[in-house]
Amino acid sequence: MALADFLADLDQFAADAKSAFDEASTLDAIEAARVEFLGAKAGRLKSIQKGMGKVDKEDKPTAGQKLNAVKGLVEAALNAAHEKLSSGAAEAEREAFDITLPGIAPQREVYRLGKMHPIYQTINRMKEIMGRLGFTAVEGPEIEDDWHNFEALNIPLSHPARDPLDNFYLSTAKLSADDKEAEVVRTPALGPDGKPLLLRSQTSTVQIRTMEQTKPPVRIISLGRVYRPDTADATHYPMFHQIEGLCVDVGVTMADLKGVLQMFWQAYFGEELDIRFRPSFFPFTEPSVECDIWHDGKWMEIGGAGMVDPNVLRSVGYDPEEVTGFAFGLGIERICMRQHGITDIRDLYTNDVRFLAQF
Ligand code: FA5
Repeated sequence: MALADFLADLDQFAADAKSAFDEASTLDAIEAARVEFLGAKAGRLKSIQKGMGKVDKEDKPTAGQKLNAVKGLVEAALNAAHEKLSSGAAEAEREAFDITLPGIAPQREVYRLGKMHPIYQTINRMKEIMGRLGFTAVEGPEIEDDWHNFEALNIPLSHPARDPLDNFYLSTAKLSADDKEAEVVRTPALGPDGKPLLLRSQTSTVQIRTMEQTKPPVRIISLGRVYRPDTADATHYPMFHQIEGLCVDVGVTMADLKGVLQMFWQAYFGEELDIRFRPSFFPFTEPSVECDIWHDGKWMEIGGAGMVDPNVLRSVGYDPEEVTGFAFGLGIERICMRQHGITDIRDLYTNDVRFLAQF
């Protein structure tokens, strides 16, 4: 076979193979072209290779070199076809994902996130601020005995604050059935001291419980639910929350009380507030003040405070000649109302999700 014919076959083969690989746009098409041109058994290159045997002996080196060069070119075209396909696919994938599109919001009714009740948000914030002022949060029971709710707080038996109309005294109820009618028989629930138990009417009970267990110095706060049979109106609810503060140490004065409360307001509301202190009376503090803040166009009472009465210090075994202390008790709902501009305390407990979701 003449060398020229062999070389012409190779050129034709290279041109056909290159255009086949250039045009192949799917994996299947590339594979079909590979089998057709480079297939080990019946590929076109294979049959051209067989023609080498017929080339004159002295032309064989030239024919072999050309064959290898063409083989390299066609294999490169095969690889290029594969690369083009995979980079094109990646690009198509990138284009299919448009990161500038807005996300798909989860269906609100199904995935609505729960939130902490505004009162508990207020409580946590108060704990955090008072913690920075060195006050540790402690807890006390909601069912109280006579000693902690009244007696140790200098509220004697004859005091009107014990009136059953102003407190939720507890009783046990039993159904007594005779032949004619069934009636509920209530018996007052009594503590181990034989005196009536009640739902605590104030967090001042925790002052006593803390001092009974701790020697001075004392610096605590206590936040929790208290109960009074008050008629619900815009600023009253039969169950509400108080924050109690107590600081007992050597040389504590009324100036410390005012200073701590002012720092607390400042930190809580982040602004100067219209606040006033009025002289008042509590059996467990002397002197006593009441504290009002300006809210919704008028003064709103938020709490009581004063210097711990020496009788209270004595009732827990402290010596009023050695230590003095201040205490305060504030209504948490009213502070929360002032913070958020809430004008009716009942909104906090109606549990309307449209209201609660705002906080
Ligand atoms: C007391 O309960 C005293 N224990 C406070 C105290 C503590 C004085 C320590 C001195 C030393 P008073 O009854 O005024 O005080 O209640 C305190 C605050 O609780 C009120 O100012 C008000 O903010 C809130 N409060 C009282 N009754 C209700 C109610 N029914 N609903 C919502 N908040 C109330």
